[in-house]
Amino acid sequence: MRTCRVGLVGAGGVAQRHARVLAGFDDTELVGVTDVLPDAAAALADAHGARTYTDIHELLAAGPDAVYVCVPPFAHGPVEEAVVAAGVPMFVEKPVAVDLVTAERVADLVARRGLLTAVGHHWRYLSVVEQARQLLAGRPIRMVSGTWWDKVPPVAWWSRRDRSGGPVVEQAAHVLDLVRVLVGEATEVTAYGDGSPPPVDGADIDSVTTAALRFAGGAVGTLSAACVLGWKHRAGLEILADGMALTLTEEGLLVCDADGERRLPADPEGARVAVDRAFVDAVRGVGDDVRVPYAEALATHRLALAVADSARTGRAVRLDAPSTATLDTTGVTVDA
Ligand SMILES: NC(=O)c1ccc[n+]([C@@H]2O[C@H](COP(=O)([O-])OP(=O)(O)OC[C@H]3O[C@@H](n4cnc5c(N)ncnc54)[C@H](O)[C@@H]3O)[C@@H](O)[C@H]2O)c1
Repeated sequence: MRTCRVGLVGAGGVAQRHARVLAGFDDTELVGVTDVLPDAAAALADAHGARTYTDIHELLAAGPDAVYVCVPPFAHGPVEEAVVAAGVPMFVEKPVAVDLVTAERVADLVARRGLLTAVGHHWRYLSVVEQARQLLAGRPIRMVSGTWWDKVPPVAWWSRRDRSGGPVVEQAAHVLDLVRVLVGEATEVTAYGDGSPPPVDGADIDSVTTAALRFAGGAVGTLSAACVLGWKHRAGLEILADGMALTLTEEGLLVCDADGERRLPADPEGARVAVDRAFVDAVRGVGDDVRVPYAEALATHRLALAVADSARTGRAVRLDAPSTATLDTTGVTVDA
């Protein structure tokens, strides 16, 4: 395949970002856009010399080599089913759904078809993730603290639980995904929400959520999410291992150990490009660096939903501990 011909489903903020990144690749062409809002599809298509299509079925009939699914959390399901049925490689934005049933159904269809997939957990492409993993190798990890303190993003669906899944599922999932890579699988979660929505019309999500987690490897941890600020205050994780404390954000890694303190920089924009580059290379058959295929994102989604469910019900949620699975260097779950 000389050129990878891409179709986009959804023409909002993140689709515009992917379109911009893909336009910078000389082996990729944006061929079509579809959105339930025809004007949004037309604006994005016009900006990139692409066509608009009325729906996913018409877009698929045009024969794209790959499809990006950039719809809000509540809209996942039917689009993916159509793409999988057509056997077209698929990039899906996180979170992969608002619930577990939809995500498991799509994961099952993807697995049966053996389809190439990728999910937009671009933090996995930060160089500091691999650096943190190497620094932690051989050290018992004792504790992790994940944080996402931010504003309510300016999209109407975000502050509705049935539309977004809430701040943990929609936003802090990036942090939970790295917690899984660096600390391992969680086995039990207890979470609390404040039950008081942020001051936004129609909001029914918690303003703040805090969770305690227990991990299969023996570590314990916390996650806190908040959406009551007017700015992004902090997003990242701190890991405490014997003789070492790490602070990882999109901007870099702070390492504290017996040698003192040092900062390793990260490149968030580079990670946003790398996630698309890896997917396109895999579609073209010239690369094998998709770090979060659909099944891997499902595991992160399951953890995020466990936190959200515990906060909603007030009960602890047990997750099945993987008995024979470990994470390889890319964070992809493999059989031990
Ligand atoms: N990985 C990241 O860094 C990142 C960044 C931003 C957003 N996201 C994720 O991307 C998703 C979309 O976010 P956004 O900011 O682009 O939202 P948005 O509201 O700006 O855009 C979503 C678009 O999808 C369209 N849409 C809704 N249902 C549709 C359907 N069934 N078929 C076709 N189009 C449909 C809407 O009309 C809208 O234009 C969210 O899940 C969000 O979490 C990821």
